Amino acid sequence: MLEARDVSVQFGGHQALSRVSIAAPAGQITGLIGPNGAGKTTLFNAISGLVTPTSGTITIDGRDVTGTSLHKRARCGLARTFQQLELFTMLTVRENIRVAADIRSRWARDHTDVGALTEAVIDRVGLREVADERTTSIPTGQGRLVELGRALACKPRVLLLDEPASGQDDRETERFGRLLVEIADEGTAVLLVEHDMSLVMDVCHCVHVLDLGQIIAVGTPSEIQANTVVLDAYLGTDARSAS
Ligand SMILES: Nc1ncnc2c1ncn2[C@@H]1O[C@H](COP(=O)(O)OP(=O)(O)OP(=O)(O)O)[C@@H](O)[C@H]1O
Ligand SMILES: [Mg+2]
Repeated sequence: MLEARDVSVQFGGHQALSRVSIAAPAGQITGLIGPNGAGKTTLFNAISGLVTPTSGTITIDGRDVTGTSLHKRARCGLARTFQQLELFTMLTVRENIRVAADIRSRWARDHTDVGALTEAVIDRVGLREVADERTTSIPTGQGRLVELGRALACKPRVLLLDEPASGQDDRETERFGRLLVEIADEGTAVLLVEHDMSLVMDVCHCVHVLDLGQIIAVGTPSEIQANTVVLDAYLGTDARSAS
């Protein structure tokens, strides 16, 4: 499982995260929601090693990875997708996924057949028909699947997904949700940042709500939907204007 404890991040004079703690257990989908600018991507960047927290610890399966390099975290089983697609645009869909499978095989040395893993991932995420297309010629919704496929080719134990349904239509999102449930059922810890509330409420076991860099609520999807503090944070009603 993934655990972030008391993580704070500062950008100049701006406190982007203040003592944020979150746990994403193996075999579950944990939601992380919050208004724009709440600090969701910053938390992902702190967990994956792209930004350095001013305080706090990150552990993966009990191993403290705070302060370690990105590739060490990847070797501990951490994989992620990006809010702004970060695909290799010169490569095809298949090559994007194969790069990840190939890099993993070099350090994992577990005799995984890179070609077979790549093809299995392509089928799993449903990209067979566009496998030979350059990623610049496919729609964003499918680009999201390439990013998921690239993460899956790393055989992750912890998967961070930053707005993976953005750019997908309703049918794609529904299919995507079913795929996430399958991935979690196999024992992966999934941490999902998403603005599509129906996806979050359908698939998450537990939801954490971030606002202005602080966790303001944790609960089941139905508890979160009924939480007035959360509604205030999203709608900017009484509680906020009074403070
Ligand atoms: N590299 C950076 N330098 C300075 N400020 C930053 C940086 N990255 C993020 N911020 C600021 O930190 C805050 C949190 O940003 P972040 O991108 O984490 O929010 P978010 O919850 O992911 O929002 P969204 O839902 O729009 O993606 C914002 O005020 C943002 O402007
Ligand atoms: Mg973000």
